[in-house]
Amino acid sequence: MKSVVIEQPGELVLAERPLPTPAAGEVRVKVKYASICGSDVHIWHGHNPFAKYPRVIGHEFFGVIDAVGDGVDAGRIGERVAVDPVASCGHCYPCSVGRPNVCTQLSVIGVHRDGGFSEYAVAPAGNAYRLPETIPDKLASMVEPFTIAANITAFLQPQPQDVALIYGAGPMGLTAIQVLKGVYKVAQVLVVDRLPERLELAQANGADRVFNNAEVPLAGQLEGLQPTLIIDAACHPSILAEAAALASPAARIGLLGFSGEPCSITQQSLTSKELSLFTSRLNSHRFPQVIAWMEAGLIQPEKLVTHYFSLGEIERAMTLFEKDPRTCCKVVLAMQ
Ligand code: NAI
Ligand code: MN
Ligand code: ZN
Repeated sequence: MKSVVIEQPGELVLAERPLPTPAAGEVRVKVKYASICGSDVHIWHGHNPFAKYPRVIGHEFFGVIDAVGDGVDAGRIGERVAVDPVASCGHCYPCSVGRPNVCTQLSVIGVHRDGGFSEYAVAPAGNAYRLPETIPDKLASMVEPFTIAANITAFLQPQPQDVALIYGAGPMGLTAIQVLKGVYKVAQVLVVDRLPERLELAQANGADRVFNNAEVPLAGQLEGLQPTLIIDAACHPSILAEAAALASPAARIGLLGFSGEPCSITQQSLTSKELSLFTSRLNSHRFPQVIAWMEAGLIQPEKLVTHYFSLGEIERAMTLFEKDPRTCCKVVLAMQ
């Protein structure tokens, strides 16, 4: 089979690899579509602190089960599935409280173990979620990015009367907009980015108002409006302090970033307004929820997808994704 392998940081190859055999409790998926995420690019360049090399990348993928390991119902062969990349032990403290995404033995498919930019991939059977026919093949890899928004909004508990502010109109910000508008019916969703093209996408994804902070800081544009719910999907370390300063008293702030740089913030700026701070990593069993949202038409994954490429065009696809955020948002790879 053909697989996209990062042999070592900086070295991406389309390699011929032996077909994997599913171990006990696993399924093998004949991958049909997969989507590119920023973290794939980071693994390629050696900027992902969790990655081990060589690695088949790709954690957003969809396909059809074509083989099963011991203990897995052979009746699942032929099932159309989206694969949750979060593989967990099931019995540590975080797993026992429903937080497998921060399992002490966490193994993310496409990061810690081989992933879905490949003609075939293996995964724990419980990670392969059957998809209804109403979700088309070419959008099915988009379940995973929406699970990030599902996870952070589960902490933030959005309400219709919230004034929500989202930093960043990349894939993470755009999925958050769709979930706040389509699922939680938040009346006002404000979005800030520094690229006008991204702000246009934000509007197309449902943002009520957009702000460009490339030249004028956001504080000078909000005219005293105080957001009650803030999501940082731009993830620069300077954003938390600004968010706390702009937030309404009693607001909730959600963070998605992984920067290793310190961010400077006073206790006073948080405690005086009794702000709640949540962080969110990957997703905790949110595939069924997102699949149901897609089936019900509450979210529209097609609004994020700007490009389709074949597996053979992987380097071109990854380079476009990385270098051209003005024209490129989500890139989907057709594997077969
Ligand atoms: P992206 O790079 O496509 O989007 C970020 C957007 O933020 C860009 O449009 C950029 O112009 C904008 N931006 C940057 N600095 C800004 C600032 N100071 N103010 C306003 N806008 C600003 O990235 P993507 O894929 O949307 O991911 C966003 C972040 O989320 C990344 O840092 C990524 O590491 C993180 N992430 C976290 C996950 C989690 O589970 N916690 C999962 C996936 C991504
Ligand atoms: Mn992703
Ligand atoms: Zn665990």
